[in-house]
Amino acid sequence: AATAKYTFTVGSMQINQLCSSTSIIAVNGQLPGPSIEVNEGDAVEVKVINNSPYNVTIHWHGVFQLMTPWADGPSLVSQCPIQPSGWYTYRFSVAGQEGTLWWHAHSSFLRATVYGAFIVRPRAGNAYPFPAPDQEVPIVLGEWWNRNVVDVENDAVLAGQLPAQSDAFTVNGKTGLLYPCANDTFTAVVEPNARVLLRVINAGLNSHLFFKVAGHNFTVVAVDGSYTSNLNTDTLVIAPGQTVDALVSTAAAPGSYYMAVMAHDTMSPLTFAASDTSTATAILQYNGTSATATPAMPTMPSSSDSATANAFYFGLRGLAGTGPAVPAPVDVSMTIELGLGQLPCDPSQTKCNGTAAAAAMNGVSFRLPGPEASLLGAHVNGLSGVFTTDFPDGPPPSGTAMAVGTKVKKLAYNSVVEIVLQNPSAVPTENHPIHLHGFNFFVLAQGVGAFPGTVAYNLVDPVARNTIAVPGGGWAVIRFVANNPGMWFFHCHLDPHVPMGLGMVFHVDSGTTPGTTLPLPPADWVGVCDAQNYATA
Ligand code: C2O
Repeated sequence: AATAKYTFTVGSMQINQLCSSTSIIAVNGQLPGPSIEVNEGDAVEVKVINNSPYNVTIHWHGVFQLMTPWADGPSLVSQCPIQPSGWYTYRFSVAGQEGTLWWHAHSSFLRATVYGAFIVRPRAGNAYPFPAPDQEVPIVLGEWWNRNVVDVENDAVLAGQLPAQSDAFTVNGKTGLLYPCANDTFTAVVEPNARVLLRVINAGLNSHLFFKVAGHNFTVVAVDGSYTSNLNTDTLVIAPGQTVDALVSTAAAPGSYYMAVMAHDTMSPLTFAASDTSTATAILQYNGTSATATPAMPTMPSSSDSATANAFYFGLRGLAGTGPAVPAPVDVSMTIELGLGQLPCDPSQTKCNGTAAAAAMNGVSFRLPGPEASLLGAHVNGLSGVFTTDFPDGPPPSGTAMAVGTKVKKLAYNSVVEIVLQNPSAVPTENHPIHLHGFNFFVLAQGVGAFPGTVAYNLVDPVARNTIAVPGGGWAVIRFVANNPGMWFFHCHLDPHVPMGLGMVFHVDSGTTPGTTLPLPPADWVGVCDAQNYATA
């Protein structure tokens, strides 16, 4: 196995978007940032140099980080943020997983522009469990704000309001022909009669997305870096944080075809928030045909089409023989209820007027610790007072008031954990994409409506993923083995919901046998922060 080495310099760049020149924070002056491309089994070393004015960390979304929890990235969970002019080298291996993952900033809203693909191919000698693609195209879907995204966060979320919606969607950083300055379009040139693997990533902050290509169907072969049995569809549905690997056969009449991206607005009632209703386009152009021929446009679903979304999600199956079996028996059984409400503002947030929109899991509105120490730093260094271990197994008794806390759930090494995620009917209901760091989980069952209590589980070929889109007014049952010691964030991947408190943290203990105990952290890791140097973003 090789070691793939990268240097990521996070800094300001000027970019022309929607007809004006704007300064954004990005990696190596690129939007999206550089793709990481490795083979399964490789080691990775990324030196992140922070030339931006903000505190920054990078998270390798979906990478297990087995025995390297200090390389995971969420600010104040697994490390102290990298301060302006500082740097940190993330060192980890990618083992036991293949497919499309991605990386993004994990501090404030910076991931709006600090993101890129993380591609894991089979190691030499191993094949894909499907006919090898002739060509691959990473498709990183994003959201664009004309304003500085840290200001968008500070003005909205911390002031207790919903955030402003994005001004555009992007495909590989470009908005496409339906926006002002229409020539800013991503074009993928493909060979005719080829098997093309699209590696599609939703790097957006706010929006569930529909993705289609005119005149072409998809065969989905993996999601979240985990193989699926073939799912044939003409529409990909991707929640923030998720990825989809889909084969497209370029057997249509030679020409150009639009790829289109629009929001799947899961809010009900829909009028609760004005969502970004625009459509990004890119072009799939057959090699040898003219770029100027007018491409065909796909017919998109309506933005509120949850039936199409649920048919896609509920239809996914794992691919037998390509991953671990469903673990059993269950050692830890939890119900986690997602809740929305209001809490008094953080007194340090001068923009807030009394109360702020808040969210909770089992009544606990999660607050990051600090700024004195990360959760992992507090654990490794034996500091007390940074977090408590009383996250409730749930569900909360009805009438329980929401309260702020930095509560973790302790899990014994190797315990099998099952969680019934409940997303009760409230006003508004909304699909929450819940992401688990450090693991893939099996999706044993999911549905709309109130959780019926007993449901049939798929223990034969459930899909494994790292981000589950829990339907608004619905539920999902997931299961995983806690075989990776560390502090692992479990949170909504709608970015505004993180500061509102829609998350919690699993603290997985070391085992007692050799190889199951967390080694000493690397000397250059900063888990306990120097409060004096801690800049406020
Ligand atoms: Cu992709 Cu905690 O995030």
